[in-house]
Amino acid sequence: MGNTMTSVTARTKNKSYEVYIGENILSQISKMDKILSADRFALIVSARIMDLYNNEIRKTFSQYSNFDIFRMRDGENNKNFKNAEKFLEKLLKKGYTRKSAVIGIGGGVVGDFAGFIASVYMRGIPVLHIPTTLLAMVDSCIGGKTAVNLSLGKNIVGAFHQPEMVISDISFMQTLPEKELRNGLSEVLKDALIGEEKLLDILYKNDLKSIRESDTIQKVVYLSALFKSRIVEEDEDEKGLRAILNFGHTAGHAIESMSGYKYFPHGVAVAIGLKIETEISRRIGWLNDGDARAVNELISRYNLIYKTKKLNADKIIEHMKYDKKNFGNKLRFVLLKGFNNPVYNQEVEPSLLKDAVKNIDI
Ligand SMILES: NC(=O)c1ccc[n+]([C@@H]2O[C@H](COP(=O)([O-])OP(=O)(O)OC[C@H]3O[C@@H](n4cnc5c(N)ncnc54)[C@H](O)[C@@H]3O)[C@@H](O)[C@H]2O)c1
Repeated sequence: MGNTMTSVTARTKNKSYEVYIGENILSQISKMDKILSADRFALIVSARIMDLYNNEIRKTFSQYSNFDIFRMRDGENNKNFKNAEKFLEKLLKKGYTRKSAVIGIGGGVVGDFAGFIASVYMRGIPVLHIPTTLLAMVDSCIGGKTAVNLSLGKNIVGAFHQPEMVISDISFMQTLPEKELRNGLSEVLKDALIGEEKLLDILYKNDLKSIRESDTIQKVVYLSALFKSRIVEEDEDEKGLRAILNFGHTAGHAIESMSGYKYFPHGVAVAIGLKIETEISRRIGWLNDGDARAVNELISRYNLIYKTKKLNADKIIEHMKYDKKNFGNKLRFVLLKGFNNPVYNQEVEPSLLKDAVKNIDI
């Protein structure tokens, strides 16, 4: 693919938007009249990205005068409701109106925050995402989910608010720390297992070093964006099929919550969740031993579980009950009836989950 830009059209009930993927493509922003002709637009930029890419960002917007740059401190703890309220007040004081717009530049934390601000300010203004982590490019910037955290729980306050456009400039990957690459690869592996076989092929053929090369990572971002946008297109409000995207996440979220969202990074928790849910699928005879081994081999090859701790299955079960996607006190999972064949809403007995947790090696 080289430097050729690719794009995916994400279609939802009320609008379609383009997701552009390529190298050095920030200038694509010039296509976005709706944002640029807004009476004012707020650039919410990750502080780290501002430090690393100050010149590129200023150059991209140098021809406009109707914007402000707001640096946002990185870290999940800053994606909270109190900061959102302060930020909304800042916009109001600066004279932002219903005709204003927001651009989020950063990882999933900034994207979720910027999307949330746009979804509620004056009952909703347009947002454009410029994701800078692999996770944000392959996952969080597509699908319109926005959120902030409460002190009692992660992503509790939010809204569905689709962006006007997404610009995934893979040049940002050059500075992405390796562990952030791995966090994104956990989501890529999930997409590969539940339905995008071309991604599985890329994962088999590469390793942590080669997958980062620009041609390959561009393909990965393109295929993942295409896959996610197709699923979201079919089930925007998460009433059914979209649930398959939670493969690995049911146990993963419980593991993150158990550690107070501090010890296990999201990508590591998802990779452990993928192992557990693969093992459950194997134990009930849905996934053969060879395929289960292949999942574990890929998790090791890309070193997705780069932090470990002994897991307590009872605690995982306890924390699953707090998950907003669970209901009725039952343990429900997405399981695999073979690669490319996920089945959602599968009830699992606690004893089976416990056996699976005991049997995975992390
Ligand atoms: N809305 C959704 O559908 C959705 C889906 C998945 C995850 N999320 C959310 O996404 C968040 C996680 O996102 P994330 O993994 O991108 O983490 P993140 O936003 O915390 O970024 C990770 C780190 O990478 C740094 N960084 C970002 N881009 C960089 C670059 N190009 N070079 C160097 N450093 C860079 C950041 O400063 C940060 O320290 C969580 O809050 C999660 O809830 C949302």
